[in-house]
Amino acid sequence: MNCVGISVIVICLLTENAIGGSVFIYNNLSGKNNLLKVHCKSGDNDEGYHVRRRGGLYHFSFSDHIMDKTHIWCHLWQGFRYEHYVVIVAYDAGTLRASSNWVRWSVRDYGVYQSINNETFQFRYNWDGEFT
Ligand SMILES: *[C@@H]1O[C@H](CO)[C@@H](O)[C@H](O)[C@H]1NC(C)=O
Ligand SMILES: *[C@@H]1O[C@H](CO)[C@@H](O)[C@H](O)[C@H]1NC(C)=O
Repeated sequence: MNCVGISVIVICLLTENAIGGSVFIYNNLSGKNNLLKVHCKSGDNDEGYHVRRRGGLYHFSFSDHIMDKTHIWCHLWQGFRYEHYVVIVAYDAGTLRASSNWVRWSVRDYGVYQSINNETFQFRYNWDGEFT
């Protein structure tokens, strides 16, 4: 963020509360055991544990701080007794171009796919193991 000149800095401060990000996590599992358990956390917030059925959506929004970089992790579990697991970086303000990004995750049998600001979903994570 380049705030050049005092008037622009004032605008940045005034609009900070209106600037927010959103994370959407879709349960797109299709197997027999298709419940999805989600637990998202950032430095400041713990969003708690949530379970979604197939076709369900888990969503939350937050203000994306200009100075601190918003960084949110989500732990995902699926399968019989939730034995399949992955940790995703659900929202990383440092790598996103703008503020107020919409980051969508499609959780599928063969991995977790991401769409930033309505762009096409792309493969990002495998289940069990490959932490990036
Ligand atoms: C994932 O689930 C959502 C919510 O039911 C649905 O709108 C979307 O079309 C599904 N995507 C895929 C790739 O199945
Ligand atoms: C994504 O698409 C929805 C509906 O098409 C729109 O309302 C929303 O503003 C879009 N979000 C972004 C960040 O482009």
